[in-house]
Amino acid sequence: MAEERIVSAENTDFAEASIEKTLRPQVLAQYIGQDRVKNELTVYIAAAKKREESLDHVLLYGPPGLGKTTLAMVIANELQVQIRTTSGPAIERPGDLVAILNELQPGDVLFIDEIHRLPKIVEELLYSAMEDFYIDIIVGQGPTAHPVHFPLPPFTLIGATTRAGLLSAPLRDRFGIVEHMAYYEEADLVDIVERSAGVFNMAIVPDGALEIARRSRGTPRIANRLLKRIRDYAQVADQAAIDQPIADHALKQLQIDIRGLDSIDRKILKMMIDYYQGGPVGLKTIAANIGEEIETVEEVYEPYLLQIGFLKRTPRGRVVTLAAYTHLGLPYPEN
Ligand code: ADE
Repeated sequence: MAEERIVSAENTDFAEASIEKTLRPQVLAQYIGQDRVKNELTVYIAAAKKREESLDHVLLYGPPGLGKTTLAMVIANELQVQIRTTSGPAIERPGDLVAILNELQPGDVLFIDEIHRLPKIVEELLYSAMEDFYIDIIVGQGPTAHPVHFPLPPFTLIGATTRAGLLSAPLRDRFGIVEHMAYYEEADLVDIVERSAGVFNMAIVPDGALEIARRSRGTPRIANRLLKRIRDYAQVADQAAIDQPIADHALKQLQIDIRGLDSIDRKILKMMIDYYQGGPVGLKTIAANIGEEIETVEEVYEPYLLQIGFLKRTPRGRVVTLAAYTHLGLPYPEN
């Protein structure tokens, strides 16, 4: 089980999910950052509306916490259609998918989060559903088993995944629109923090927002979570507005350093340095050393360390870089 982590980009907490909802932008114009994705979608959405057709299927991929679910909701809102949301692991049997598809109205959006975790037999049903809007399933067992043909209304599937590489080629090929979500720029995170503070009715000065943005790993979900914690510190200190010193104080208490690394990130780097001379270290070994699943290391911990150049991928494993040694204040080994 992963340790509770304030800088985790995963969204597992129910209370947090409901807060995210209140912070969610409703239309593309309110959605901050991801400009390339937004610009492309604006055209595709306008064109689909003009033709009075359903939007092509959309695949959104990128690290957790960057707003893939939010963007799916914005797309449905812009299309003025209903959205039904589910996730790969939630659809266990073909019947589960049929039940969901059965409720769609023409033009609706079906959002499947973690689409790389769909069971294979469900995934195969999606092929004809996506391509020609029908599914054929076998109903009954033994001698009474018979095929049933279900026509479907035209709909838009929006799939989200942290791991586009894990999608099978036939599934990936059925998405007409494929968008990569990248970590957010600092300036965009500043805007997001200021917007969220406004939604919370909380005063924040620009260098306070900048401090949070810098330490949020390019991830709005983390920025919003840190903002809430810092608000508590400001409130207890009777401070009317969040400024840089209170943000810095709170983040230090939370053991989040100036690059947004927490104690687990530092533990990974230090373990690689202390026991393996900085690498190369295989993923399996890293996972075993910190007591985590390989997938967790690969999807949760490693992407940001790679992104900021603290880790490097090599054919023989991960290597700690000079930048990481410098950040940790450790001497870089000669060889
Ligand atoms: N809240 C979280 N992500 C956001 C985004 N990209 N734009 C606006 N508000 C957000």
